Amino acid sequence: MARRSTSFVCQSCGAVTSKWTGRCESCGEWNTIVEEQSGGGVGGGPAKTKATKGRVVPLVGLQGDTKEAPRIQSRIAELDRVTGGGFVRGSALLVGGDPGIGKSTLLIQAAAAFARLGHRAVYISGEEAIGQVRLRAERLGLADAPVALAAETSVEDILATLQDGEPPALLILDSIQTLWTDQADSPPGTVTQVRASAQAMVRYAKKHGTTLVLVGHVTKDGQIAGPRVVEHMVDAVLYFEGDGAHQYRILRSVKNRFGATDEIGVFEMTGSGLAEVANPSALFLGERSNNSPGAAVFAGLEGSRPLLIEVQALVAPSPLGTPRRAVIGWDSARLSMILAVLEARCGVRFSQHDVYLNVAGGLKINEPGADLAVAAALVSSLSGLALPANCVYFGEVSLSGAIRPVAQAQSRLKEALKLGFDKAFCPQGNLKDRGKSDFAATGLEELGEFIAKISAKAGSGREA
Ligand code: TYD
Ligand code: MG
Repeated sequence: MARRSTSFVCQSCGAVTSKWTGRCESCGEWNTIVEEQSGGGVGGGPAKTKATKGRVVPLVGLQGDTKEAPRIQSRIAELDRVTGGGFVRGSALLVGGDPGIGKSTLLIQAAAAFARLGHRAVYISGEEAIGQVRLRAERLGLADAPVALAAETSVEDILATLQDGEPPALLILDSIQTLWTDQADSPPGTVTQVRASAQAMVRYAKKHGTTLVLVGHVTKDGQIAGPRVVEHMVDAVLYFEGDGAHQYRILRSVKNRFGATDEIGVFEMTGSGLAEVANPSALFLGERSNNSPGAAVFAGLEGSRPLLIEVQALVAPSPLGTPRRAVIGWDSARLSMILAVLEARCGVRFSQHDVYLNVAGGLKINEPGADLAVAAALVSSLSGLALPANCVYFGEVSLSGAIRPVAQAQSRLKEALKLGFDKAFCPQGNLKDRGKSDFAATGLEELGEFIAKISAKAGSGREA
């Protein structure tokens, strides 16, 4: 008889300890340790004592006649872009996102697109009843697509169901947290169950050449709930982002074994499901007012895709001893750094002023290349003079005040040109990337030089 051992598993990081504690020693989270039985041998160590004889597997060389990983395209261009040109057969993907962001909507649309192209698509819902999924499909106008649908949470039952008929080209499991397997003793949603269920399903996918899509919940701090180990088990991790106040949604790849990471697809949530947004820059620049001080357009890059985003700053005299700094959509430490560089290297003072910085459209910029646009917006707001409306800014600012080149300047400038901009301030080192001659790009080496230039253009403006 196999000995049942009890272990205590942190539900946040997956660390295993032999005794219960209030705080996980590994990740520091409180109240996340749960007692789990580890009897079944999955993820819980060697509990079974009966030794089974191993099967002999053939060892092969690296070179062989394996075909180039064949992909299946959904023909939803934004989705295919994020997956790196279509779903790879036999791969497993994890799609994470806040509740209500549109994961189920996106995946039922993908399943329908696959089915309509003649591939077998199976959608298994563990969260919603069949009626609810049907209702959604009807609303999206997809009810006639030949998607095979089931509401099921048991891994064994799902695998048995998939045994008959040809293996599906696309299998969607919504969500991984609701699945459970007999192989593990803990309740659904715990680390052990999630890990064991994901393992079983990934094994099925690899064996049968099925593309497996797992939906994962996201915790309050934005990570996929449950063990990070699931992220290691799958070939690609996609996050579906966006906020309630805006209609657009961004599908971002944070890991992809078969394509570029940090690739994004942009969608818009409409009354009839998610619509592709082919030109996101136009969306983010949408309601731009041309001549208000404090607005600068940043020519940014998301993955391989250029994106124009408006950076807005408001600098106002502060009644407080310690002025306020508030940032939405950018790193606040980065803002402090830019303010410090402006003060120390360019003599522009903000110490008596509140500073508010906002990235229009609710987008979050992670790129240091936005430094120059932020500096331009700050100086423009402080001086009260608007920047020219037809100009874009990009470049990284170092602590010395030097302006450093950024990647892919050419595609940034091309995007700006496409949207009707004809001037740019960019790092000197990026000037050679300017392909078109009718684009008036100004190369910069120092932040001080830049401030002098935009102040001269705007009129006066430099405060001591
Ligand atoms: P859903 O796909 O259920 O989110 P998730 O699976 O990520 O939890 O999306 C639910 C939200 O999307 C819900 O708030 C309503 C909205 N929605 C639309 O605006 N239009 C639509 O056509 C659909 C199907 C949903
Ligand atoms: Mg859902």
